[in-house]
Amino acid sequence: MVKQKIFIDCDPGHDDAFALLIACYSEKLDLLGVSTCSGNQTVDKTYRNAFNLLNYFNKSDIPLAKGNPSPIIRESRICPEIHGETGLDGFEFPFYENKSNLSNGVDLLIDTVNKNKGIIVVTTGPMTNLGLAIKKDPRILNNIKEIVLMGGSTTEGNITKAAEFNILVDPEAADICFKAGVPLRMLGLNVTRQILVTKDVLSKAKKIDTRGSDLFVKLMEVFNKNQHDFFGLEAGPLHDPATIISLLNENAFVFEDMNVSIDTSFTDQAGKTICNKAQPYNCKVAVKVNVDEYWKTLFEHLEKCI
Ligand code: RIB
Ligand code: CA
Repeated sequence: MVKQKIFIDCDPGHDDAFALLIACYSEKLDLLGVSTCSGNQTVDKTYRNAFNLLNYFNKSDIPLAKGNPSPIIRESRICPEIHGETGLDGFEFPFYENKSNLSNGVDLLIDTVNKNKGIIVVTTGPMTNLGLAIKKDPRILNNIKEIVLMGGSTTEGNITKAAEFNILVDPEAADICFKAGVPLRMLGLNVTRQILVTKDVLSKAKKIDTRGSDLFVKLMEVFNKNQHDFFGLEAGPLHDPATIISLLNENAFVFEDMNVSIDTSFTDQAGKTICNKAQPYNCKVAVKVNVDEYWKTLFEHLEKCI
């Protein structure tokens, strides 16, 4: 079976961590590289977290590089209320020696895509690095089969009434990506907020009893406490793995073709994903989620992280 080549840009981030885990352990995917962005925490901290995660998954050979330290034009906005001071509070990683000489996440994305026609680029944080990569070397658009993102919403936002965090942090970058002319697949809050790390999910994860489930349970306990304290939620929504799961399990999501554009104003609508069913459509937008199928796929991969 030919594996689907992918590149992930992320801001780990408790939920990003399990998008990475699934990508690392899937037999159907070939994760060719990872870049990190400023989002849930600073780019230095999201890099450190991605470095620790790839080492924990025994995938330290996967090229990893730090992306742009801030959004394209707007001020950085981080989210320690949910992800903590480290950006991945709740789990103590062993010490791993950093032998990488890769320094620029945008260039790593460009080089990887230019060498791999048909690659899928997955973003689970603000789209800064992909937006900059498209501007710096538009040739990558000839090789990208699809951009799959966690971001936006067909309904309300989570940081403002209008906007979801990943898009709100860098609307200009998202605008570049949504106008780039390559197929998009959007997993927005309208579906990911239905994917809750409930007590039942946690107890099922505990029974798996692998290194992957140990990581999941420890991180989710902190994630859920912060989601409760900050958003008043009984269980945290596990947004980012939806991107990877949508590539692996066709029963997990239902998509509709839509025209999606980004509000890049400096009003209270900034960062809104304006979704309508008008033509020409540019994006497959997730409109339904089968939560049982989602957890089935996630647990299958926690089992592989032994
Ligand atoms: O709004 C949710 C998104 O913002 C997720 O990707 C989370 O990790 C944060 O990046
Ligand atoms: Ca994220």
